[in-house]
Amino acid sequence: MRIVVLGAPGSGKGTQAARLKNELGIAHISTGDLLRGQVAARTPLGLKAREVMEAGRLVSDEIVLGMLEERVSQPDASKGFILDGYPRNVAQCVALEALLARIGQPLDVAILLHVPEEMLVARLAGRAAAEGRTDDNPETVRQRLHVYEQQTAPVAEHFREIDALVEVDGVGPFDEVYARILRAIEHNG
Ligand code: AP5
Repeated sequence: MRIVVLGAPGSGKGTQAARLKNELGIAHISTGDLLRGQVAARTPLGLKAREVMEAGRLVSDEIVLGMLEERVSQPDASKGFILDGYPRNVAQCVALEALLARIGQPLDVAILLHVPEEMLVARLAGRAAAEGRTDDNPETVRQRLHVYEQQTAPVAEHFREIDALVEVDGVGPFDEVYARILRAIEHNG
């Protein structure tokens, strides 16, 4: 099964995708986690990506696609995967469709998590205090939300047009949001 999880920064993509991974026995592929791994390992790619991520902008499509291609070719992704944080703009959407066609793994469903902006800001401020993720400061969060509206929201529209989008209320206790996602997959996956 191939699932895309879409939503603004702080909407719960990573949290919910990690649970889905265990339930469905497929890979959880977060382009944000892959990039943070590169930054932590101080690879040339990570050194390039770091400044862009700290500014809340998108890392180049070419870099992210290269990482994704490498990741989906790993054994744990052979039965399927949950994409968290990809695609993030229309060009990435086109690249993803080409990649899925090439590897013969069509998309089953795209899940869009809805959470109001003031709650996103509060969640990310909470994480900044608890974990100190470097892009969770108020200025970068504002920029990430802006990039989401400008570049990623049209991706959801694309999935809606091809009838692959399911919208889920992302507000509420973790378990409730998770149950809504499972129901959405059962009915639409
Ligand atoms: P990425 O890591 O993808 O970050 P993001 O999309 O901004 O998303 P977050 O991780 O902040 O939020 P989330 O929706 O996963 O929510 P989470 O579950 O963590 O990307 C970071 C950067 O990398 C980008 O800005 C960009 O620079 C670069 N990048 C990544 N992918 C790229 C791509 N494809 N192309 C180009 N650049 C790319 O939850 C957030 C918080 O809320 C947590 O503290 C959690 O505990 C809490 N929470 C979650 N659910 C609930 C709930 N139901 N109730 C209360 N709290 C909750």
